[in-house]
Amino acid sequence: MNSEMNAQEKMKQTAGEYAVKFIQPGMIIGIGTGSTVYYFIKALSKKVAAGFEVKGVPTSRKTEELARQNGIALIDLNDVPLIDLAIDGADEVDSNLQLIKGGGGSLLQEKMIAAASKQLIIIADAGKAVDRLGKFPLPIEVIPYGWKQTAKHIQQLNCNEIVLRQKEGNPFISDHGHYILDCHFDKIDNAALLSQQLNAIPGVVENGLFINMASIAVFGNEDGTVRLAEK
Ligand code: 5RP
Repeated sequence: MNSEMNAQEKMKQTAGEYAVKFIQPGMIIGIGTGSTVYYFIKALSKKVAAGFEVKGVPTSRKTEELARQNGIALIDLNDVPLIDLAIDGADEVDSNLQLIKGGGGSLLQEKMIAAASKQLIIIADAGKAVDRLGKFPLPIEVIPYGWKQTAKHIQQLNCNEIVLRQKEGNPFISDHGHYILDCHFDKIDNAALLSQQLNAIPGVVENGLFINMASIAVFGNEDGTVRLAEK
């Protein structure tokens, strides 16, 4: 691991561990996916081991497995009236707390859980804060059938390049059996409009723009401090 990677990892750890401060006993928590959330799960498991009672709704199979291994009780999304708080990572966060998510391929379940939550708190290394969304290729979850047609429609929304996400030489398959198209927009001027336009394309299941969902972002800094951004 080079020093740059070490610094980023430290920032993720700082943000992930800080987020347990938001958890109250008895809460139902949406548990996000990714390398920053890993540190949140580890910190939460320590509280649970000390007698703190919470129930988690996982945003992916990976998180489900990790939460179980760490002794966190889980509950199905269908069995909760409302989630008190969701904690999740992000790939880009702008100053209005609009997000790009889905780098880990779990955007559909993540968005459903965010939509079922009273509050969404984002945890990220400081490098995820951006002035404008779009440098990170926007993940779009699509039905495998006819995906090239779906990609053509996406291209018409001023997308520069579309890449079918791969894993070990085959198309990456999401937890819900879909493909992910990584769409290089470079800069996104009107994220709310783009999100609506994308979701209106036949074959698109969901896109990675999370608009007006997050209310707090916790950015971990290199020196072990955090910067809180609130809406
Ligand atoms: C997964 C996500 C992740 O939250 C996002 O990719 C950030 O991941 P990491 O914390 O590993 O940087 O949206 O679908």
